[in-house]
Amino acid sequence: MRLEGRTAFVTGGASGIGAATVRRLAAEGARVALGDLDLDGARRMAGEVDGFACVLDVADVASTTAAAVAVREALGPIEILVNNAGNDRFAFFTNTDEELWDFVLDVNLKGTLAMTHAVLAAMHERGGGAIVNVASEAGRVGSQGSVTYSAAKAGVIGFTRAIARESARFGVRCNAVAPGPIETPLLNSAEAQHGDIGARLKQGMIAATVMRRIGTPDEVAAAIAYLASDDASFVTGQTLNVSGGLSMG
Ligand SMILES: NC(=O)c1ccc[n+]([C@@H]2O[C@H](COP(=O)([O-])OP(=O)(O)OC[C@H]3O[C@@H](n4cnc5c(N)ncnc54)[C@H](O)[C@@H]3O)[C@@H](O)[C@H]2O)c1
Repeated sequence: MRLEGRTAFVTGGASGIGAATVRRLAAEGARVALGDLDLDGARRMAGEVDGFACVLDVADVASTTAAAVAVREALGPIEILVNNAGNDRFAFFTNTDEELWDFVLDVNLKGTLAMTHAVLAAMHERGGGAIVNVASEAGRVGSQGSVTYSAAKAGVIGFTRAIARESARFGVRCNAVAPGPIETPLLNSAEAQHGDIGARLKQGMIAATVMRRIGTPDEVAAAIAYLASDDASFVTGQTLNVSGGLSMG
């Protein structure tokens, strides 16, 4: 198995793409830890894969530091980090405020920085590791109703490239995936929050894919597992679109 004996940590692993990633990495032989705001959900997932669960708020630097220590103590050094935790609040930009900007930037961008900061020095010292960040096509093409989220995810793509440059000499690779519309609670929250407008945004995203459909969490997890594995040993600084061809190039 590709990830036999590796220790992996997935943020936001209790739901959606994160949960599918936990299952996929475990199926490929990794010992998997997951952290989530939703500790009950994280514990359920950990039980499913015989893994380790901890409470985690990626927007809180102290929480990311504590989670990294807890995972190391439970399973050993983290060799694969999947920065998946993310969230959005749908609103047209003129209707947003500082509170929304801070919330969305903290979870999606600062959270990725903070969690990476908590594990990267140890990866450098050990001379190896793989980081996979979950960005979004929103960070490539811009998404209506998700302007701050689009900015945060574009930031994640830039962060991925810069970390790849700084870390290559330590044997650490850093890549990202950019999912298009994926069937998860997050995707459906626009409709839950805004009814018809949210439903139309979702239809618009489906129409923007050349495959004319929504993707599944498992399809994103498969790309994450590839980037985390030695099959991607000469791949770093890249963002792989998993989006039915929503954008190309
Ligand atoms: N679903 C999509 O269409 C889509 C598209 C592109 C990118 N993404 C990205 O994929 C990732 C996973 O999203 P999803 O669609 O599976 O959503 P989801 O809501 O199903 O899962 C997100 C998980 O992250 C956890 N989480 C939220 N805030 C957190 C925090 N501060 N600290 C720790 N955990 C936190 C939630 O509790 C939840 O378990 C996110 O980064 C999201 O931006 C999703």
